Amino acid sequence: MLKIHGEAIVRLDKLLSSLGYGSRKSISRMAKKGYIVLDRSSIHDSSHKINITSDVRDRLYIKGEKLDPLPGMVLMMNKPLGVTCSHKEVGKLVYDFLPDRWRHRIPALSTIGRLDKETSGLLLITDDGELLHKIIGPKNHVKKVYLVDVADPLTKDAVDIFASGALMLRGDIKPLASAELKIIDPKRALITITEGRYHQVRRMFAAIGNRVVRLHRTQIGALKLPDTLDQGSWKTLSLSDVTLVFD
Ligand code: URA
Repeated sequence: MLKIHGEAIVRLDKLLSSLGYGSRKSISRMAKKGYIVLDRSSIHDSSHKINITSDVRDRLYIKGEKLDPLPGMVLMMNKPLGVTCSHKEVGKLVYDFLPDRWRHRIPALSTIGRLDKETSGLLLITDDGELLHKIIGPKNHVKKVYLVDVADPLTKDAVDIFASGALMLRGDIKPLASAELKIIDPKRALITITEGRYHQVRRMFAAIGNRVVRLHRTQIGALKLPDTLDQGSWKTLSLSDVTLVFD
């Protein structure tokens, strides 16, 4: 596995194969054909060692395209309904929206937590296992905000029960941490939770005799899903975007 922290000197074929550009053999062929350009000159020998500087993506082009993000990438996606957060289930997967080549990246990309197939909205994806565990780790209490439409009108009782820190979900052995419910319309609310239990929001509403009819995640920490990101679209995040997750 190729893990790059800060500057490093790496063989070109090792770097490119870890990013999914192909086997070392096929990368050698690409180099011979002049498809690999570093600092405006073709590199014909794929065993060439390059210095991975912070601006390497502006210096290295493969078949005329800027180098893919290096390991340690984080992206946000607006997950559509009907799509699964899994690498190998039947049907459409969130990874199908990313470039095909990225299926072959090592380390692999994974979703940071999951959204149900029938939940839409903000989904984070990374190849940084440490970051992933920091965000989903139960001790970190990262806030997740969902817009929820329900079948029956909401009352102040729901607000109090969710805030109580005493609500037990069926099959669980520990009550839920306090959650905030802001009623927007009788059948629409924003809910903020700090845990990530299985089908948590749907089960919370079921526990008070209601039913979720639409669930859409809008925010993780202080990081919001922008209105400009269409369903199925994604964008890579900067370090300062990622920092917002912990606010
Ligand atoms: N809670 C749910 O019930 N489903 C999700 O996808 C996320 C939170």
